Amino acid sequence: MLLLVLSTTLLSAAFSCQNMRIMALDKSVVVGRTLEFTQFPVDGAGNFLVTEQAGTVHEMPKLPNCETPFSFTSDYKVVRFRVWFVTEWANTTLGGMNDEGLSVSTLYFTDFAKFKNPNKIKGSMCERAAVPQTKLATYILSKYSSVKDLKSDLNSPRFPIVWNQPDLGNPTIPVHYAIHDRAGRGLVLEYTKQEGLTFYDNTVGAMTNAPDYGWHMENLKNYPNIQRKEWKGYQYQYQGKKYLHAPSWTGTGFTGIPGDYSSPSRFIKAATLVSHLNFVPDAEGAVNKMFHLLNTADIPQGIISGGWGRNQQGEKVEFVDYTWWMGVYDLSRNCVYFRGYDDLSIKKVCLSDIPDVPSKINVEGEYLNSYIDVSAKLVPMS
Ligand SMILES: *[C@@H]1O[C@H](CO)[C@@H](O)[C@H](O)[C@H]1NC(C)=O
Repeated sequence: MLLLVLSTTLLSAAFSCQNMRIMALDKSVVVGRTLEFTQFPVDGAGNFLVTEQAGTVHEMPKLPNCETPFSFTSDYKVVRFRVWFVTEWANTTLGGMNDEGLSVSTLYFTDFAKFKNPNKIKGSMCERAAVPQTKLATYILSKYSSVKDLKSDLNSPRFPIVWNQPDLGNPTIPVHYAIHDRAGRGLVLEYTKQEGLTFYDNTVGAMTNAPDYGWHMENLKNYPNIQRKEWKGYQYQYQGKKYLHAPSWTGTGFTGIPGDYSSPSRFIKAATLVSHLNFVPDAEGAVNKMFHLLNTADIPQGIISGGWGRNQQGEKVEFVDYTWWMGVYDLSRNCVYFRGYDDLSIKKVCLSDIPDVPSKINVEGEYLNSYIDVSAKLVPMS
């Protein structure tokens, strides 16, 4: 019961996320995401990258009105991010990539997401594939190698029914999905109260949280002034003479770009950054660039309040929202890069090197900090 109360505190708080895509001159595709959430109210919780070989069987929970639980076998090697909560894995997969160069990022979609009530799946519907929203990312990574194939299945009965599953004391986990492949195609997949299953081509290469992708794209029209080129300055006329107040600084092209942490503002900034960036030669450069881009969305602990709750000792404390981790998917070379909060060093796992048995590694890394002491490397000035 205590755990339930604590975990309700954990997940009922605000949640934000960011997803970005860049393409290098050599056509390499690199996708990045940040994951923001409220700090864990308990010890023994953490974020992990888990790996599995092709051929892994995933059995879904039994549906109340169906005989046999749906299960699927993965066709590809998959790495994905999951949360360990004291004694068990949380149901939700936060996203990942497969060795065909497809990535899925699960992003919160508060107030908009709606999935099928599992009690309403019965009769002939039981013969269809059916997965909870918490495992849809895993299903897509296990079964699809391109956005094109996924897109052609979305409106067909081949694609699973997506039902609502609770997680960590919450009756639902409201999410939408940003999917990218190594051809550079992007898709945003949403299940909404108004429209049901909806999907969009992600042309701009950015996604955040609510509202839906269509709304965010409309909102871009509010920023027609944003550009890479510098503006001349403020101009006016007085008694027949022209005046120009030219700024004594650079960066005026982006004057007025939102910099706050709300989802609409983060979308504008992310879309602007990825679409106004000058060239990146190759995947190596794109991975480095992506970490710099994600750093613009980094939320330090203490800025955003996730509300008040009780910690493990039962004391009333303020929980803060912050960037738990960042992940970068190199879809062209099949590697994932990531860093945690305390450990700022970047770790890398390539799908070609994952073990034969399902394996895991803590995203936070081994260090409380990631500093390298270079005192011994100081050399005399010549
Ligand atoms: C995952 O969902 C099932 C229902 O399908 C629920 O019984 C279980 O408690 C959930 N797990 C967690 C960690 O909340």
